[in-house]
Parts: sequence; structure tokens; C-alpha cells
Amino acid sequence: MKFSSLLLLATTGLLSTAPAVHGIEPLSLNKRIVGGRTVTTTKYNFAVRLNIKSSTSDYLCGGTLLADDLVVTAGHCMHNEDTNTVYSPTSVAVCYGSPNISEMSCTTARNISLHPNYNPLTYTNDIALIQISQLKSGFDTLPVYTGKVPESTVLTTMGWGKTMDTSTKLPSMLMAVDIMVGGIAMCKKAESSFVSSDGPEICSVNSLTPGKDSCQGDSGSPAIITADDGKKYLVGLTSTGVDLKDPTAATCATAYGIAFYTHINYFMSFITATSGRPASFFYGQGEEDTGDASYSQSKSAASRSVIVGGGALVAAIAAAIVF
Ligand SMILES: *[C@@H]1O[C@H](CO)[C@@H](O)[C@H](O)[C@H]1NC(C)=O
Ligand SMILES: *[C@@H]1O[C@H](CO)[C@@H](O)[C@H](O)[C@H]1NC(C)=O
Repeated sequence: MKFSSLLLLATTGLLSTAPAVHGIEPLSLNKRIVGGRTVTTTKYNFAVRLNIKSSTSDYLCGGTLLADDLVVTAGHCMHNEDTNTVYSPTSVAVCYGSPNISEMSCTTARNISLHPNYNPLTYTNDIALIQISQLKSGFDTLPVYTGKVPESTVLTTMGWGKTMDTSTKLPSMLMAVDIMVGGIAMCKKAESSFVSSDGPEICSVNSLTPGKDSCQGDSGSPAIITADDGKKYLVGLTSTGVDLKDPTAATCATAYGIAFYTHINYFMSFITATSGRPASFFYGQGEEDTGDASYSQSKSAASRSVIVGGGALVAAIAAAIVF
């Protein structure tokens, strides 16, 4: 049995009077950010913001630049549940270049490849690639992490999604938060088939980092790791979350919350087959960490901080529940 609520966010209403990419009312920065920190530098410029238009709604997701012409995101972000088809590239805007949504540049997707075994009922193989025109400047790419992902590993995740599950506005700046990989027993409570975070999904347990979590609108966004060499690598992408106490609620950062991140390296054969590039292309040098006052790899709970995405009209939240 698996319960999960998707972490993409319908922004209808929020964006109805303006173009999808620039219509969001900026949120006052120091308000209502649950345990998160506002990203004010370009250090996470490998993160992109996706605006997806369907005939019934607009959706917000995130992604990561694997190359200057390739974005990895969640499968469910690219799958139109109404029509059971992949979104057409022209309905997907990829915005990059700044943590500040008012300063981002946007480009339209050129081609979208959903994992061939993506399952919209169980959200397994929740990964897709977006081909874009080659970017010239104002961005970074992130190499894929190949190491193991043991319990208690600290990951940093980020996104432009809701900053509280009850938020009614989205943040205007990228938010980042540190979360922790959970133990197998806890993760199995959310998904009985779960084996370990070295498999297709990385599992984080909210109670390990109280008040810190990803939220609606963060789907597809990066989860990164700082390796022993001090460099940053892409390890996962935001997929689903569930509250074990209230599995039908689209809550975030609750005491009984479990979140799942698609494990990027587990899907390397999909990435190489789709992009026509060898795995070595994606296993480059990590990014130097340029420092971040509130970031720490320490395992002490007190030293951690972190995400939750922006809000919008709560009524518009797309929360799909699977039993
Ligand atoms: C975001 O960009 C807009 C437009 O350049 C600017 O007015 C605003 O101050 C920026 N916000 C932050 C927090 O830097
Ligand atoms: C676009 O993606 C589809 C699905 O992966 C693939 O079959 C097709 O060859 C791609 N087209 C181009 C022009 O890359």
C-alpha cells in the first residue's frame, strides 16, 4: 500500500490574470517560511522553475540542469493526468538564471521524454527529461552523485513551491532547506515495497528535521548532496510526500511526514539512452560549495534548516492520493 500526495502545484487563479511565468505576486520574504532559508545568490543556478500549462490549470514544478540543453524533472510534472499524455513541449516554460522569479529568463521546452515505465497510479519511475535550446549564460549544471545514500545523510533540497501547506501565495525567491535520509523501517510505513535509499527512491523522514520539508510546487526540483570532496552533486528530485497520520491530506513538514525523492543515478540508463550521451558526461566534477551561512552537514538537528514551496490558492492544489 502506498499513500502519496504529489508535490506539484496548480497555480490557476494565482496566474490567471498574467502570463504563467511572471504572474506570481511576490511574497514578503521574511514571512511564513517554515524552517526554510531564502536563496539570495546564484549558487543554486542549476535549479530551474517550470511553468506548465494544461487546458484546465497551470502547474508549478522545478528541475535541474544536467547540461546546457537538458533538464531533469519529475515524471508526474510532465504527465497530463487529464489526458493521460505527456505535455506538449510548447506548454512547458523552463525559467533559469536567478533565484528571484522577477529576474529569470525563460525558454520553451523543445522535447519532453517521460520515463517509458512511469506509472501514474503508483508514481514509480517518476522522472522525465526536457530538452531545451542550448543556454548561453546565466546558469550552472550539476553532476550526478554516484555514491550510496545511507540513513542520516543530509540533503539540501530547494524550490519555488509553497512555504507552508496552507500558504496562499508563492515565494518570489528560491527557498532551500536541509532534510535527512530516513531509516528503512520508517520509510516502509509509507511504502511497503521500499528497500533502501540506494534504490529508485530516496526517502526522507520529517521528524528528523522538524518543520523542514519540500511542499507543493517543489516537484521535480533538485535534492543535492555535499560529498566528501566538499563539492555539490545532484542526488535526487522531489517526487511525493505523505503524512502517515493523515494520508489523504496534502500537508508538508508534519511530524509524521515522509517524502520521496527520485534517485537520479538509479535512472542513469534512461538518461543516457534519451540524451545519447555517455554516463561519464553526467558524472563530471562537482560544484564547489561557495558557502552558505545556514548550511551544515552536521547531524545535530538544531543545526539544520530548510524548504517548503510557495503557496497559491489552496483550493487549486493538485494532490493525488494513492491507496
Ligand atoms: C527581485 O527582482 C526584482 C526585479 O529586479 C527586484 O525589484 C527585487 O528587489 C528582487 N528581490 C530580491 C529579494 O532581491
Ligand atoms: C523527443 O523525445 C522523444 C521521446 O523520448 C523521442 O522519441 C524523440 O526522438 C525526440 N525527438 C527529438 C527531436 O529529439
